[in-house]
Amino acid sequence: MRKLSSIRKCRSCCCCSGAEADCLRTTSEYKVMAEPRMSSIDGKLAEEFAVPSHVEEVKEKMTAFATLHAAAGRGVVLITSGGTKVPLESRTVRFLDNFSSGRRGSCSAEYFIDSGYAVIFLHRHRSLYPYTRMFSTMNMLDALTFRSGEGAARDSGDVVVNQQVLPNIAKVLKRYQEVKEGGLLLPIEFSTLSEYLHLLKAAAQSLNTIGAKAMFYLAAAVSDFYIPASEMPEHKIQSSNGPLQLSLNMVPKILSPLVKDWAPQAFVISFKLETDATILLDKARRALDTYRHQAVVANVLDSRRGYVVVVTRESKAELILSEQDMRNEVDIEERIVSNLTLAHNKFISQQGG
Ligand code: PMT
Repeated sequence: MRKLSSIRKCRSCCCCSGAEADCLRTTSEYKVMAEPRMSSIDGKLAEEFAVPSHVEEVKEKMTAFATLHAAAGRGVVLITSGGTKVPLESRTVRFLDNFSSGRRGSCSAEYFIDSGYAVIFLHRHRSLYPYTRMFSTMNMLDALTFRSGEGAARDSGDVVVNQQVLPNIAKVLKRYQEVKEGGLLLPIEFSTLSEYLHLLKAAAQSLNTIGAKAMFYLAAAVSDFYIPASEMPEHKIQSSNGPLQLSLNMVPKILSPLVKDWAPQAFVISFKLETDATILLDKARRALDTYRHQAVVANVLDSRRGYVVVVTRESKAELILSEQDMRNEVDIEERIVSNLTLAHNKFISQQGG
């Protein structure tokens, strides 16, 4: 593990990722936030899930990002996106994966930014990414051409975008560059379940510094099963030893410490994915009862692009795309984000923020 450099925290608040002199907050602007509490899961996380070497460095980045944007009056949303990978060997050849393309998370990130949020995008390596997701099915070489077609142009290397293949590239590129220049998107990658769990914990502790202005939008598909580091074989499992029987442990439900201990003042949204529509609402309500967070976005695998239900303790909002919407390529994420940003604003006012 990388050694933590010693950082002296500002005494007037607990938000500083850097030295006291760099503190962006003053007590007159913000309420003093409590240090995140330890949870019973912390020990298990440290013992059974390999800690990524860069976690402290990433945590400092996330804290600085959250502090800067909250000071500028923006909400900050942590979006998780893509599926986690559970290795079966420590020098990994084989692994279990959870299904998620990353479309929900990456598309939502764009709408959150359009709604005035800064986004920490905690996503699976190589899953869909905001803005570039629109061109993900494209072969890059098919999108390029030589300026004047034949012969000399090919030799001169004068390459341009083929406007027939990418008609709206300029519009997307313009928005992408604005977001980049504005520093509104902080991408963080994970691949394995261990990386996901440790980075999510670090993100929660970072966002705890901005209280109710923080939102968690947990769209990633997270494994419920894993092999503890201590029980994992080092080398490739040999098929010459016969059929493989796996015994997997249960992954601790990370929502519980997140809501109770790591970021207790934040606005937290979990997702519920089922393949059986008849149990969906019941499972979503049960999650709200168990974890006491603010909302669940419930969806069924086959219809997730056109139908979701946003469930809170007081309400149930069905968001549906019509056939016309589908033809017009409306993103259901636009409606999800609109519903949740309104609820978040209300939440912030109720907390007196
Ligand atoms: O990416 P796409 O292809 O567009 O698909 C989007 C999606 C279908 C993956 C997304 O909309 C979705 O439903 N994501 C959640 C999938 C999931 O993992 O559901 P779950 O029922 O296993 O977990 C429910 C919640 O508990 C999740 O918010 C998860 O963050 C949380 N969880 C899960 C496991 C765990 N150990 N701890 C947790 O806190």
